[in-house]
Amino acid sequence: MRFKGVVRIELSRSLNQDDSKALEEAIREVSLSLVKGFRDPEDGGRVLSWRSEDRFLVLEVESRRLRIDEAAMRVRNSLEASLGSSRRIGVRDIELESALVEIDGEIRVSTKLPFVKSIEAGDKQTTIHLKTLGEKDLKKPILLRLLRLLSEKELKAGWRGKTEHWQLVKESKIKFTTPITMEDPNKILEEAGLVKRFSIGQWLYTPLATYLMNMVREIFIREVVIPLGFTEAVFPKMYPLEIGLKTGHLRGTINSMVFASLPKTYNIEEFEELTDYMYVTNEAPPEEVGNYLRYPEYFLCYAQCEPFYWFFGGELIDDASIPVKWFDRSGPSFRWESGGIYGLERVIEFHRVEIVWLGRPEQVIQIRNELLSEYEKFMDRVLDIEWREAWVTPWYYEQSGAVERVEEFNIDRPGTIDFELWLPYRGPREDRKAWLEVGNLSIHGTKFTEPFRIKHNRGETLWTGCSGFGSQRWLTAFLAQRGFNPDNWPPKLRDYLNRNPPPEPVATVTYPKTRTGREELEKLVKFLWR
Ligand code: SER
Ligand code: ZN
Repeated sequence: MRFKGVVRIELSRSLNQDDSKALEEAIREVSLSLVKGFRDPEDGGRVLSWRSEDRFLVLEVESRRLRIDEAAMRVRNSLEASLGSSRRIGVRDIELESALVEIDGEIRVSTKLPFVKSIEAGDKQTTIHLKTLGEKDLKKPILLRLLRLLSEKELKAGWRGKTEHWQLVKESKIKFTTPITMEDPNKILEEAGLVKRFSIGQWLYTPLATYLMNMVREIFIREVVIPLGFTEAVFPKMYPLEIGLKTGHLRGTINSMVFASLPKTYNIEEFEELTDYMYVTNEAPPEEVGNYLRYPEYFLCYAQCEPFYWFFGGELIDDASIPVKWFDRSGPSFRWESGGIYGLERVIEFHRVEIVWLGRPEQVIQIRNELLSEYEKFMDRVLDIEWREAWVTPWYYEQSGAVERVEEFNIDRPGTIDFELWLPYRGPREDRKAWLEVGNLSIHGTKFTEPFRIKHNRGETLWTGCSGFGSQRWLTAFLAQRGFNPDNWPPKLRDYLNRNPPPEPVATVTYPKTRTGREELEKLVKFLWR
């Protein structure tokens, strides 16, 4: 990235012959101020040329790492200090003209952005010309964010095509020399009628499917979440847009969020034309319905921990109130996955236990490490299945579109660990596609405490962490490895089955639909009721 621009400084009076020495000295000072703080002076700024015209000093400046707004302000402040003390000349005004930002690579930016005048896009380089900026503009956070956006775009353009970070951290031993089953549990659950497709990526879970999902989830909560001291809360599942602005979701994942709109009015009479139309035609055309709705002011639960940061946002936290350890399992999350929707494994509406915590960095790290070790016990001893853990691009970077380099695995640093379980029906263990990500475990550093302004009363740093347990995915992966026959289940799951009788499956004249489906259901009934 390179910046160029013309800084026009208005002085308190015209310069004359007597000022020339002081002026030359002042320009030298400006040059020094432009490289201040840069180890390599090349990274700072330079004065390419300068001239004085009556009361104006006009300097052509370029820079690399030093943002052009900062460079302009450094020019101003330096001149004010040196000319002020040597010649009692003040600075009246400053303008940055013809400023441009040159970026390596081809990037796309809207000319609707504030301060952008025009854009020249080449193959290897993009040049963004800025409008003339006054002193007030130069100090605005909008400009800072614009320039930050451009540098992120440049970084991303340089990384294009590189895969996301994935580093194996740990894996279980091989438990099944020959798999117990090679069947796809998604198929069985659907064919035997335990679940029925409601709409794309959405299912109805009959009582028996719900029972199975709850079994794995309840045991997880009982074995991992409660013993570690987390308590249950209920979070909203529809978020005002402002929340997504703070978490970054509206920038990073807007393409996969589901939005919600309120009606324009509560007065049912104002809907009459539409309701009459639907009555007579028995149709509900979305574009007509849309006319009666407000713009989407909400999006549906995406990461599930957002309300936690909102709750503590703006509050002052003391040592007695931390660590805070909560979990929420109260409702679904929504992700519009345009491609690749499959079975219960990749859906638009899913259920998750979201575990959240807040505290000082050392507390947050310790809680993460305790959770990690309990997760491992849960996978190894309770479900007794094959698993692995990977250090991945943190979800809070991925979902906020932030560009950050992922550092190598370090247990004491912010980052995300993914849990993956083997799906024998998809292929051998060596095949990356045969592993399903069922959950993750992260600490975020100050990624959320900063934008939400969660503060400690004595100014200590506060961090947060979260972990998501995808209920559908844990169940399907368990069934993919251990099958539907409880003889092949580990003791804690068999025990659950014995203590909690499962509900009857749905069997009507026409349901399940197919003969194989009916046979699958019969088999299942034999397995579960003995
Ligand atoms: N909030 C985290 C995520 O969305 C964990 O569930 O991945
Ligand atoms: Zn989360």
